[in-house]
Amino acid sequence: MQADIALIGLAVMGQNLVLNMNDHGFTVAVFNRTVSKVDDFLNNEAKGTKVLGAHSIPELVSLLKRPRRVMMLVKAGAAVDEFIELLLPHLEAGDIIIDGGNSLFEDTIRRTKYVESKGLLYVGTGVSGGEEGARRGPSIMPGGSPAAWPHVKEIFQAVSAKVEDGTPCCDWVGENGAGHYVKMVHNAIEYGDMQLICEAYQLMRDGLGMTPDEMHETFAAWNKTELDSYLIEITRDILAYKDTDNLPLIDKILDTAGQKGTGKWTVISSQELGIPITLIGEAVYARCVSAMKEERVAAAKKLKGPSKKISADRVKFLEDIRQALYASKIVSYAQGYMLMRAAAQHYVWNLNYGGIALMWRGGCIIRSVFLGKIKEAFEKNPALANLLLDPFFKQAIKEGQRSWRNVVATAAKKGLPVPAFAAALSFYDSFRNDRLPANLLQAQRDYFGAHTYERIDQPRGQFFHTNWTGRGGKTVSGTYLA
Ligand code: 6PG
Repeated sequence: MQADIALIGLAVMGQNLVLNMNDHGFTVAVFNRTVSKVDDFLNNEAKGTKVLGAHSIPELVSLLKRPRRVMMLVKAGAAVDEFIELLLPHLEAGDIIIDGGNSLFEDTIRRTKYVESKGLLYVGTGVSGGEEGARRGPSIMPGGSPAAWPHVKEIFQAVSAKVEDGTPCCDWVGENGAGHYVKMVHNAIEYGDMQLICEAYQLMRDGLGMTPDEMHETFAAWNKTELDSYLIEITRDILAYKDTDNLPLIDKILDTAGQKGTGKWTVISSQELGIPITLIGEAVYARCVSAMKEERVAAAKKLKGPSKKISADRVKFLEDIRQALYASKIVSYAQGYMLMRAAAQHYVWNLNYGGIALMWRGGCIIRSVFLGKIKEAFEKNPALANLLLDPFFKQAIKEGQRSWRNVVATAAKKGLPVPAFAAALSFYDSFRNDRLPANLLQAQRDYFGAHTYERIDQPRGQFFHTNWTGRGGKTVSGTYLA
């Protein structure tokens, strides 16, 4: 009984996290469903470390100190439930099962309840940062049974990324599914950030006719501005990367995007909670449109549009794109935070919004200088209702607005798709509009279905119906909000 923690699942993330824990002085016992992988790992990547191999679940559990901590890094879904069932007979009250995969938060809510009903504790944690992050320091977002936190805190905070002052990018997020919810929103924001960068890239490539090397220079310069972030940095490097024939690899990659579900789950949750995360929605749909490759190729031959060439001054227009990206990014994060606020209320989680920005500040895929500003905004005003109202971000949008509008308008005139830039701008203009056309919408609903409406000259909560045609009856439809 010597290992501090067990880890099940020796795929890329699992192996790297084990080595990271080992580096920090923890003894890790490992197991994998395909058992031969355990020995492979011990004889190769983990050679010379203190890592212990187990060839069965009972052996794995027998190697652990009490309370036992068993972390799974397996594919989200059925595999997690299967391992919980395999583990339960060998664990005892107070032991802790940890799921570090990208699980759906509703599954984590259910599993926390189930594992707690057996007298054990459960942690569902987001782990972000890919292979490199897992090895050198990921962002870790744990939720689940609060009583488990003191038992995992030391290991998690030791192996996580640190911000400049040494603060770990890992803190307790909240009960049951809170950690996985926050990780899900992280991934969705990742979708948004990536889509914004891709739209900027298409404007440069197709509108301004820039080469990958020229775009590499542009992203390198942008990474020294407010946009300084991991995703801009890797974009810079991707654009400079040459294939074996010395031509840019980027030009040879098929334009159909994959997705593993976290973006889609976030949009589903936003629909259920009634929160407009329009930019993320567009980012998910943009991947779906990209996947319709054959249909697009056929349509391209038939559906005509204007010339894509943008004749504006290149330097000036590039600065407009940069400003558009920055302003849209602010809207995207504002929307992501609106969603987390609504989820916290609905699922009764006490989320620390500044703390979440700090966890995302380092280690994870969306890490950026920008997140430091979000942390400051919530530190100054923990009750901040919307990021767009924070003085710093309000000013940033004010300064970038002309450029942002110019980019969206130019893209529309040139037939270049900018779904995320445009969605962000439309949201901004809707959000700051105190008189939207929904009065007409309510009139239409009342006209065809007697759904009733409220009046501007009467108190809220009183509902009226008009017999618009003179042929309708007096019966009105019930009022309720979906
Ligand atoms: C991370 C990543 C990671 C994974 C994404 C990819 O935070 O380290 O987000 O979780 O790479 O889930 O998601 P898609 O396959 O849906 O793009």
